[in-house]
Amino acid sequence: MKFFIDTANLAEIREAEALGILDGVTTNPSLIAKEGIKGLNNIFQHYVDICSIVEGDVSAEVVATDFDGMVREGEQLAELSEKIVVKVPMIKDGVKAISYFTKHNIRTNCTLVFSAGQAILAAKAGATYVSPFIGRIDDISWDGMELISQLVEIYTNYDFETQVLAASIRNPLHIVKCAEAGADVVTCPLSSIMGLLNHPLTDVGLAKFLADAKKWL
Ligand code: E4P
Repeated sequence: MKFFIDTANLAEIREAEALGILDGVTTNPSLIAKEGIKGLNNIFQHYVDICSIVEGDVSAEVVATDFDGMVREGEQLAELSEKIVVKVPMIKDGVKAISYFTKHNIRTNCTLVFSAGQAILAAKAGATYVSPFIGRIDDISWDGMELISQLVEIYTNYDFETQVLAASIRNPLHIVKCAEAGADVVTCPLSSIMGLLNHPLTDVGLAKFLADAKKWL
């Protein structure tokens, strides 16, 4: 399972990259806004800066909602770096744009996916990644993990090459459950990745080992 970090914060990306476990980055318009970056040129430069930190794929989202606008924006984004994956929303023109990008060898991440039907359309259009938002499904008292298992099964049934990129991760347990379900990728906040490190028995065990090591002196 690949690990992406779900942030536009350069310090967080560097911290995850330093662990040696990072396979890519996802961003969205809200995450870019959170960094206080304004103006298209500055935002494009920020994507280039992210690409200079990581080896893997970097998702950058279009904000147009019509086919022509999405194609124009997506082509500009793809020009920035070969690491850029164009993130396109799951709407009618989005599916058309994903089909267009597929034919023109531009990789895509279909975002805002909340149902198996939407994920089937994204895969048929040739999306590189599909992003089901498990946390937001859990937020409305449905089961986000169930959707991940369903998509893994459907894509396996038909050998779709589209990768299941579990998004809207809220905690370390989501990551473990995604691994059990066979998700290809998880994109997580830094806090959820770091949360995987924690176990009280590790802390207790290490304290005991260090205390015993002092007896050597
Ligand atoms: C990433 O691709 C998604 O945009 C992101 O995971 C959404 O997360 P959120 O539901 O916590 O905003």
